[in-house]
Amino acid sequence: MHAIGVDIGGTKIAAGVVDEDGTILAKTRRDTSPDDVAGIDQAIAEVYLELSGSYEVGAVGVAAAGFVSADRSSVLFAPNIAWRDYPLRQRVQAILQDDVMIVVENDANAAGWAEFQFGAARDVDDMLMLTVGTGLGGAIVSNGTLVRGAWGVAAEIGHMRVVPGGHYCGCGHEGCWEQYASGSALVRDAQATLIIQPERAARLLELAGDEVTKLTGPHVTQAAQEGDPLAVELLAELGRWLGEGAASATALLDPALIVVGGGVADAGDLLLAPARKAFDEQLSGRGHRPEAAIVVASMRNDAGMVGAADLARR
Ligand code: BGC
Ligand code: NA
Ligand code: ZN
Repeated sequence: MHAIGVDIGGTKIAAGVVDEDGTILAKTRRDTSPDDVAGIDQAIAEVYLELSGSYEVGAVGVAAAGFVSADRSSVLFAPNIAWRDYPLRQRVQAILQDDVMIVVENDANAAGWAEFQFGAARDVDDMLMLTVGTGLGGAIVSNGTLVRGAWGVAAEIGHMRVVPGGHYCGCGHEGCWEQYASGSALVRDAQATLIIQPERAARLLELAGDEVTKLTGPHVTQAAQEGDPLAVELLAELGRWLGEGAASATALLDPALIVVGGGVADAGDLLLAPARKAFDEQLSGRGHRPEAAIVVASMRNDAGMVGAADLARR
């Protein structure tokens, strides 16, 4: 059975028709806004109509960046999108006037599932996925099973506190890991440096068209790939937070593999080499235990779409 996977990001949704081997047969996308939840419903309905016009599909999986209910129908809460107790399945079905099966999944859980089934983690039974994008998402596969918790909201790993009294988080707390290891954290710190130390930030400022607020994560990655010392340092700092947190998560989970995805993972070793170093430094019992490898997601930005489609069939 083919299924449609829809990945809802901060500013766009990407959708695709996915077959049972995880292969994407067709793709489409729409721009959306994180404040306009009705607009997101509408965009999901549109991509469904577009794709189901050319393919027979049995289910739709929607990967949402938030806390998803155990029955996989609603978003209970989202730190970076305006969903609050939001009946996403029902809203989209109401627009479509159609009872196609719609399954909502957490975006990182969907991405982790795709990597476990078809990607970087297909050969292990225990893995941790970290998605580094607008937020920091997590997925845990333990003994071959996606860990959902009692209420569907396990693996909200980005909201573990790493700095008491630290940066405010969209979840309402302070010092969450996401505020140190995400694309938003990267942009926040880069923009601060642009203002405080402009002499170090010439290349970043140029990429942002001389407007501090226009600077994006991909600008930082591009500058780092060109060798810009500030951009390299900013990604290394993010990598350090990522690796240290991954060491703590490993104390809890003992994964065989840690897969890093999300947009910031496009920086590759500029992010992962400092992450591995920090992981090694913080891993308790190091040298006396087998050690998880930290690798980049093999399905890149398609993981959420593919995983949501695959989970919707189950
Ligand atoms: C949200 C998660 C989501 C992650 C990545 C976090 O802020 O709480 O639900 O998986 O961002 O999008
Ligand atoms: Na998750
Ligand atoms: Zn938080």
